[in-house]
Amino acid sequence: MRVLIACEFSGIVRDAFALRGHDAWSCDLLPTEIPGKHIEGNVLDVLEDGWDLMIAHPPCTYLAVSGARWFKDKTEEQVQAIDFFMALIEAPIPRIAAENPISIMSTRYRKPDQIIQPWQFGHGETKATCLWLKGLPKLTPTDVVDGRAQRVHRLPPGPDRWKERSRTFPGIAKAMAEQWSITA
Ligand SMILES: C[S@@+](CC[C@H](N)C(=O)[O-])C[C@H]1O[C@@H](n2cnc3c(N)ncnc32)[C@H](O)[C@@H]1O
Repeated sequence: MRVLIACEFSGIVRDAFALRGHDAWSCDLLPTEIPGKHIEGNVLDVLEDGWDLMIAHPPCTYLAVSGARWFKDKTEEQVQAIDFFMALIEAPIPRIAAENPISIMSTRYRKPDQIIQPWQFGHGETKATCLWLKGLPKLTPTDVVDGRAQRVHRLPPGPDRWKERSRTFPGIAKAMAEQWSITA
């Protein structure tokens, strides 16, 4: 499959699909952290490039419910963030998964198809992650483990804190690649 991982600088989901033999590309405004097939630029410019599957991680800064106290001064940014999310979910690609934390997209778009947690995929941490799915089955947990640490609490402050918080958990990336390698 030709797989696009939209809004990914880490290369984690891209490489999980590449390991399974797919032609997988990440795309982000930032360079990739791990060398690999990466488009450094605006993902909106490549949505029509013939992908079979897209997994999208759009920015949640102006969408996440956890940031609601900042919303009133950020109306324009929020409108742009909603438009960006909708451009991804409505892309002309047969199978799409869009991921976000608990966010206003549950009401602005629709309720997510499922909410997953890292502890269902081998990481003893909590981070509620909503998935909106098109043409894809729900993810089945692969490795339910003990441990409910909140990642956000153990990260030191610093300019790259948002990166640490936003990198996809490898166990979730592996489950996506295993369960969404659908070729029929
Ligand atoms: C929440 S982070 C997702 C990180 C991802 N989970 C990972 O493991 O790399 C959102 C990313 O969207 C990227 N982004 C924002 N606007 C974009 C655009 N128009 N085209 C491509 N990437 C964009 C940001 O640079 C940021 O890295």
